Amino acid sequence: MRIEFAPLNVPLRRRLQTAAVMQWVFSFLALAQCCLAAFILLALSDWWIVALLYAGWLWLDWDTSTNGGRRSQWMRRWSMWEHFRDYFPLTLLKTVDLDPKKNYIFGFHPHGVLVAGAFGNFCTEATGFSHLFPGLKPHLLMLPFWFRVPFFRDYIMCGGLVSSSKSSLSYLVSRPEGGNVAVIAVGGAPEALDARPGALTLQVQNRKGFIKLALKHGAQLVPVFSFGENELFDQIENPTGSPLRRLQNRLQSIMGIAMPLFHARGVFQYSFGLIPYRKPIHTIVGKPIPVVQTPSPSSEDIESLHKVYLQNLTELFEQHKRTYGLADDQHLTFI
Ligand SMILES: *[C@@H]1O[C@H](CO)[C@@H](O)[C@H](O)[C@H]1NC(C)=O
Repeated sequence: MRIEFAPLNVPLRRRLQTAAVMQWVFSFLALAQCCLAAFILLALSDWWIVALLYAGWLWLDWDTSTNGGRRSQWMRRWSMWEHFRDYFPLTLLKTVDLDPKKNYIFGFHPHGVLVAGAFGNFCTEATGFSHLFPGLKPHLLMLPFWFRVPFFRDYIMCGGLVSSSKSSLSYLVSRPEGGNVAVIAVGGAPEALDARPGALTLQVQNRKGFIKLALKHGAQLVPVFSFGENELFDQIENPTGSPLRRLQNRLQSIMGIAMPLFHARGVFQYSFGLIPYRKPIHTIVGKPIPVVQTPSPSSEDIESLHKVYLQNLTELFEQHKRTYGLADDQHLTFI
């Protein structure tokens, strides 16, 4: 393999961007493990009383991740996130204004390897969410597992991340005063296993839980498509049925976390590593689908809203694809 090194005279601005993205990759691959290790070491050290106090806090605070979380506007505005945004660069676009008196479920597609677009747009203010959608508070939903990790949970909750459990989603979209946005990467972990440049396959056919909850609580459904999300990383070939894919599926059913074997570039060279490529991401927020509250939706209600949702998602993709460099014959596939 030929290694292509980064030039030495990279401007400081670009170095800061790479550093911001590097810490973000680290946060989502290794920070949880580091936090857990730090907690265990603390518990075994002379400072065990601190670990005990923290454990008490954890017990008192256990439900916060399913009750709207605990965002920090200060942290969401860190200038580090602006460097993160400019690395790709990442842009958030709206198609219509959203009424802040209602609650929304944003279906985010595609998941990509690390959901970079959803994180940058909805867990930070770098792309101007609060300016685009005044009065709305975005919450990205993440597997409940992560909110059990000491310290790490406090960090991610600052960004507005909350648990992806049913009760957490219900809590957000049932607030009578409105103003909540629950962002769900609908394809979830399994979709990450197919995230590679050019992929346009979405795992949505069997994902209906969010539709049911939208009906139950009368939350408006908004399709969101993130162009460029799958272009950030390459992934080792794992076609359905291959030994690697079978192993990945098994790990995923045991742990709930997908393990895509992805690679892109490094910090000082462009040939391998876990830093994403510098490719633009454009996240388009579609028009809300009005949902009439149906306390106990029948399966026909769910099916028909699911169908409309997929039609509207297709429409959103088709309307904007040419602007972002896709060809007329490229279409979404739903599985
Ligand atoms: C969603 O799709 C339906 C059916 O194709 C269409 O009637 C409706 O206008 C679309 N709604 C939005 C908000 O795009």
